[in-house]
This record gives sequence, structure tokens and C-alpha cells, in this order.
Amino acid sequence: MSKSSRRHFIKKNILNGLFLTSAIPLLKADSILESKSSITELNFNTNDYNSIDWKQIREQFLFAKDYHYLNTGSLGPSPRIVIDTVCKAMERLEISTNHGRHEIDETHEKMANFLNVTPDEIAFTRNATEGLNIAARSLRLKKGDEIIISTHEHVGGASPWLALAKDFGAVVKLIDLDFSGKKNLQIIKDAISDKTKVVAFSHITCTTGMKLPAKEIVDLCRSKGIYSCIDGAQSLGMFPIDLRAINPDFYASSGHKWLFGPKGTGVLFINKSIIEHIDPVFAGAYTDSQFDLNTLTMEYRHSAQREEYGTRNTPITLGLGSAVDFINTIGIDNVAKRGRELVTHFRKGISNIPEIDILTPESELYSASMLTIRIKDKDNLKLNPTLNKEKKLRMRGIYENNINGLRISFAIFNSFDEVDLLVNSLKDVVKA
Ligand SMILES: Cc1ncc(COP(=O)(O)O)c(C=O)c1O
Repeated sequence: MSKSSRRHFIKKNILNGLFLTSAIPLLKADSILESKSSITELNFNTNDYNSIDWKQIREQFLFAKDYHYLNTGSLGPSPRIVIDTVCKAMERLEISTNHGRHEIDETHEKMANFLNVTPDEIAFTRNATEGLNIAARSLRLKKGDEIIISTHEHVGGASPWLALAKDFGAVVKLIDLDFSGKKNLQIIKDAISDKTKVVAFSHITCTTGMKLPAKEIVDLCRSKGIYSCIDGAQSLGMFPIDLRAINPDFYASSGHKWLFGPKGTGVLFINKSIIEHIDPVFAGAYTDSQFDLNTLTMEYRHSAQREEYGTRNTPITLGLGSAVDFINTIGIDNVAKRGRELVTHFRKGISNIPEIDILTPESELYSASMLTIRIKDKDNLKLNPTLNKEKKLRMRGIYENNINGLRISFAIFNSFDEVDLLVNSLKDVVKA
């Protein structure tokens, strides 16, 4: 087999694997062979927002042209360049029989720049859940210590703290959020007691796409000596994030949602101001700065990367770096603006359908590119698979907190035409 046909064979089978494991019917996918081999070859005309070539951006994604994927909040598809980076790195490292560990330092740097922090504050994980578990466990909370979380947390955002309650007798205090977004800081303030050790909250809730005032919550926590932990699964890649300005103790996110990174990638930010006060959850190769078994010496690295124990999946981590490059090529401000425009277009489209309630605040202060609706007097959870099957509209039913809603994610590959199709389909649903 020639080199290029072997590469074709590997890619083709990887892609087939991806699609076969999906719950969606098998969709005809494009090949990634037309992929540009370097990020610098991608040009979407981003100098002027109004001339950005969104169609060409859509071309970078493999899912079928007539499939209306509005579920980035659950899983972000990866563009060609990311898949290509992973495949090439996998092939190269298999040929050279190396793990390529040192190569991921470049990705630490890319991610740190993307979030405006330093590379030694960035650790790579498998997903947001893992990052949140590391954060929760590293605080060594004790019986009676209080943790504040909200009723809007994802199971992956809540479970790490519930596990601390089970294992160590920490107390989880549950708060209900204000759907308008306005009172959430005050609600958290009111819930704080002298036993509160952590406030853990979603930057963007998975339920209604509501944005929480992250900086204000973090400032409040710091003023009271309380740790702040942000679940950023829904915010990373959705809009610009300056973590230095927000300055939380922890921020954990997935790489495989709004950043469109490879599946099974995640990021954990640990503020350098606390790194010496917390112990890593796991220890092993790469977590130490000094190790001598004979003298039983082991010192942890003065870096968040002390959490990256053992052999890692270098190709997907490089793919995550490529995802950051991809977003940077478009510009994160442009990404955020596009999301808002699609949301606004959708809001306008359904404004004269009284049977539809919008559960997400409208203000940009309290929302971004994801929105949840509820069609009155309908089982919205049942509507979701129906719209998927009949109209090829893929959304996410929201069962959390008994919301009974439909969550719609507006991403860079979505178009105004798709939004119109969604609006018309909802009109039909309401009439039926
Ligand atoms: C707010 C929030 N937190 C955590 C998660 C879990 O993410 P992961 O599967 O990357 O751990 C999700 C997934 O949808 C989420 O929406």
C-alpha cells in the first residue's frame, strides 16, 4: 500500500468508526482528504466581520450538509484540520514509536494564551468532569465544610461535590438560580455561611444557557476566603474568556464542545496563587519536580501540570491545540458575534408564537450562544427526537431541574437558513 493510500485507509476507517458509534442514523460524510494541511492555509476573510465566509467555515465540518446540528452544547464536531492533526500525529508517533509527550507543551502555551493565563496554570484532562473532580478532591475538604452549588449544574458539575459529601461528610448546599440572571450574585451571597469553603458554579448553565457573573462571584468568594470553581464546559470557545481578569481558583472545561476539539479532551486551570496550598489527587511520572526512591523523596512540580500524571494521548492533545488555532483563525470575537446574531434571528422568528416560552435571559450580560425554549403543554423531551428524525434538526432535551425544554446551540457552522427551518418546524409543532 502506498503512503497516501495507507493514510486514506486509516482516515477512512477512523471516520467510519466515529459515525458507526453514533446514535444518529449513518449519514453520508465527506472525506477529510481535502483538508488543508496547515492552519495558515485557511482563510475565511475575517478582517471584516461582514465578509466572513461562513459557508467555507461550514465546509470544514464533515457532517452531512442537510443535517442541522444545533447541539454543540453536548458535543462539538471537529473541523477537518483538527481531525487531520490527530491522524497525522498518531501516524507519526506510531512510526517513530514515541509518546511525544514534550510536544504538548506547545498546546499548554496555546491554551494559556487563549485564556490569558500562564502555561503552568494549565493542565490537560480527559473532559470537564475530570477537571472538576481534580479540583474538588485537591481541596481536602472535611466533615461539615460547606460547598455551594446550584440546581442548574450538569451531573458532571454536581457529582464531584456530592462525592465529597459521601466520602468526607462535606455538606452540599443547593441554591436555585434566578432564570432572569439578575439576582444570581445575591442568591449566592445569601447562601454563604462561615462554613462555606467552595462556591462551584457553571459559567454558562447547561440547562438554559444562562451566563453567571463569574468575576463578581469570584471576587465575592475571594473577599471571604472561599475557593471558587468555575465549570466552564459551556463557555470555552463560545466567547472570549480572560481568566486572569476573572481570576478564579479553578476553571475546568471540555475541549470537545464549543472549541470543537477531539473527543476526550479537557482543560483544568489552577490559579498559581493556590498551587502550593493544594495537593494533587494523583502522583506519578511528570507530577514531580524531584523523585528519588532510595531516599523516599518526591516533590510536586510547581505547576498545574502536576495533575498530568503518566503517559498521555499526545495526538488528541495536539488536536486540541489545532482546535484553538482554528478558532483563532476565525477570531473568538467573531465566533461570539455570530452566535449572538443567530440567537437574535431565532428570537425574532419565534416572537409571534405565543405557545413558545424562552427560558434564557435576553441580555448579553446573562446569556451568549445557547438558548432553551419550552413549548407550552407539550412534552418537549419527546419533541426532540421527533424533530431530529423528521426534520434532521438535532437539539438537546432539557430534563434537568424538571425544565422540560429544548436547548438550541448556535455555532459557527449554523446558518440563518437553518434557523428559519427551525422556526418553521416549531410553528408546525405548535399547530399540530
Ligand atoms: C455545564 C457542564 N458541565 C460539565 C459537563 C460534562 O462535560 P464532560 O463530558 O466534558 O465532562 C457538561 C456536558 O454537557 C456541561 O454542560
